[in-house]
Order: sequence, then C-alpha cells, then structure tokens
Amino acid sequence: MSKPKVLVTRKIFPEWIDYISKNAELDLWEDELPPPRDILLNKVKGVDGILCLLTDKIDPELMDIAGSQLKVISQIAVGFDNINIDEATKRKIPVGNTPDVLTSTTADATWSLLMSIARRISESERFVHNNKWKTWHPLHFLGQDIYNSTLGIIGMGRIGYEVAKRAIGFDCKILYYDVNRRLDLEEKLPMQYVDLNTLLKESDIVSLHTVLNDDTYHLIGENELKLMKNNSILVNVSRGPVVDTKALYRALKDKIIWAAALDVTDPEPILKDDPLLQLDNCLIVPHIASASYKTRYEMSRISAQNLINGINKKTLLTCINPEVNY
Ligand code: GLV
Repeated sequence: MSKPKVLVTRKIFPEWIDYISKNAELDLWEDELPPPRDILLNKVKGVDGILCLLTDKIDPELMDIAGSQLKVISQIAVGFDNINIDEATKRKIPVGNTPDVLTSTTADATWSLLMSIARRISESERFVHNNKWKTWHPLHFLGQDIYNSTLGIIGMGRIGYEVAKRAIGFDCKILYYDVNRRLDLEEKLPMQYVDLNTLLKESDIVSLHTVLNDDTYHLIGENELKLMKNNSILVNVSRGPVVDTKALYRALKDKIIWAAALDVTDPEPILKDDPLLQLDNCLIVPHIASASYKTRYEMSRISAQNLINGINKKTLLTCINPEVNY
C-alpha cells in the first residue's frame, strides 16, 4: 500500500524530517524562502497532510486545491493567524500548533529585547564596532532603568504570564490588560488588572503578548502611543500588525515615546526602505523570540508528530480546533 503524502514547507530538525519520511511520502521544500503561492498551491494537490509555517497562507482556496483527502494541517508555531481555522473546522481538518514549549523561551527573548533597548545595548555595540568609541563620557548612552519600573503587559496568556514572573526579580510593579481578567494568575503573582488606557498611561514599559485578530489589529495606534509616557518603551513580541507601524514611526521620531523593540514587524520581513530602520531608538530583530535550539527542536518534534498522527487519523498532541481532533 502506498504511503500517505505530506508536504513540509521548510526544513525542520533532521531527526524529525527522518521521522516524517519513514511514515509518509515526503515532499520537502528545502529553500530558505517560503514556497511562492503558485508553487505552494501546486504542491498541496492530493496531499494527506501539510506541515506549514506562519509565512504560508492556508486559506479556503488552498484547502480546495489540496482536496478532500487532506487530513491535517500542522503548524510549527504557536500563533496561527495565517490559517483559516473556521474553514478547516468546517472541513473537519484538525489544525495542530506548538504551544507551551516556546513559552519560556519567548519570555526570555522579551526580556532580552526589553533590557537591550532600555540600556541601548545594540546601539552602543554598533558604536564600538564602528570605531566611534573615543572616551568614557558621563552623558553617553543614557538609558532607562528597568528595576523599580512599571511593566504593563497586554495579553496575559502563557507568554505574558512568564514575562510577568521575570519582572519580580527587577522589583517591577506589574500592570496587565487582557479581554479576560485572570484572577487565577493574580493569586500567584502580585499584578494589577487595569483597563488599556490606564496601562498605557502608567507603564514605563509596555509589552505586547496578544494574539492577532480583528480586535487586536492596530491595537496600538497614534492615540494609544500618545497616552504613553515620553520616556516609555514599547516591546512587541506578538504580531506586527498589532501595532500601527506608521504611527509608531512618528511617535519614535517625535519622541512621543522613548524607544521600541520589535521582534515582529508589518510586513515581515520589514521593507528595506521602512523609515523605522533609520531610527536609533528602534531595535528590530527578525522574529526570533522562540529561536533557541531546545525550543525549535521541540517545535519540530510536536509539529512532525501532529502531522503523522493526523494523516493516520490519530489524536493530535496539540490542536487549535479540538472539536475536530481525531
Ligand atoms: C511565533 O511567532 C509563533 O507563533 O510561534
């Protein structure tokens, strides 16, 4: 009997590629860049499972072209705004993702960004590398203190909570805003639930950990940035479109806020001529928050197992639409 067919849209850890190829007929897209849409649509024809990335748009058109034998969509990421979940559910296709394993790694990365921007680490490192360091100067590279600051977390999910936990060691006051108040978490950590405007007005550091959906698109725009303190910092480790990029540029340029650190941009990758790239008070890294060896290995494992379970109509380890999980 021929093996089920799967498409894997990028290289993952080799052990898990081996595992997939032992259990399925594998079509692996080996390029560094995502498959262009027309190639992706061509490759999904007749597959039983797809292992995809957040750079692959998985919409009704793709599901139609794939065909009714498609049994699983396995995303190697926790976020899934690239996938039309309602449509997958309607077609009884379980969609897997990789939550939990990346929570702490992403929280660590949030703190790396936050500390880096607050103390101008990346900017001053460039200064040294460019041979500009002439002397110690009392007024050079002054930054913002993190200890004793007020940290405002928007989105108190798994990652937001881990970010909050790390703030205790810095004696921060923690505020948070979420659509749901988390009394269960408030029992574990000293943090205060506030409305969005209060959080923006009172925080020294605002850190974004919300999902991207219609309600959170441009959640932080011109009006919200204007509410923030002039010496405040915005950190975005959620999704680029949660922030209105043009408004952010103006706010940084006009010193409405002091600085921003972005793991995510809109679009991704950021355009070469995006004016944010010209600003010293904007630190940008290429969506690397979950990029530790251990975490990406685990993400490879879970997404591979979800894929193989799905093609065999077995329960996915983690499923975004559990009502259609096997
Ligand atoms: C990364 O952004 C993810 O959603 O895992």
